[in-house]
Amino acid sequence: MNRILATAIAGLLALPAYAEGDADAGKKAFNKCKSCHQIVDPAGEVIVKGGKTGPNLYGIAGRTAGTVEGFRYGDSLVEAGEKGLVWDEETFVAYVQDPKAFLKDYLDETSAKSKMTFKLRKGGEDVYAYLVSVSGE
Ligand code: HEC
Repeated sequence: MNRILATAIAGLLALPAYAEGDADAGKKAFNKCKSCHQIVDPAGEVIVKGGKTGPNLYGIAGRTAGTVEGFRYGDSLVEAGEKGLVWDEETFVAYVQDPKAFLKDYLDETSAKSKMTFKLRKGGEDVYAYLVSVSGE
């Protein structure tokens, strides 16, 4: 086997280890989010009934930050989206651990603010896997 192919295969094998959130655990953990977030698909079907303090989290994977129509985001999150922040597992997990610190770091602005004050210390990748699993992706 040539070396390039071997490297490519090793890379593929390494991927799942990184993206190994547990959707079932994430479903439970989402109980911590639903006071502020609902999950509603584009047809209007409610997957998880929740609060509206935060934006709908349906289809969060691959979505540009701060772009749910009609939701009044804080300026920093909108700015991050304008600068190219797209939610993937890595950014999502870092954000939910500490939204304000994440935005400060992403924008490189000590004055960055977050309207989400909740912090999920552990299990962000599980919640991400759960959101992907209910978003038909
Ligand atoms: C106390 C209310 C509250 C809780 C609890 C909460 N959030 Fe949020 N969340 C918000 C608000 C408000 C925003 C908008 C932040 C802003 O505009 O700065 C937000 C934004 C987000 C965003 C960015 C969405 C986008 O459209 O760019 C993600 C991702 C997110 N929350 C995930 C979570 C997850 C996962 C949990 C549970 C672990 C959670 N949140 C718990 C209030 C909350």
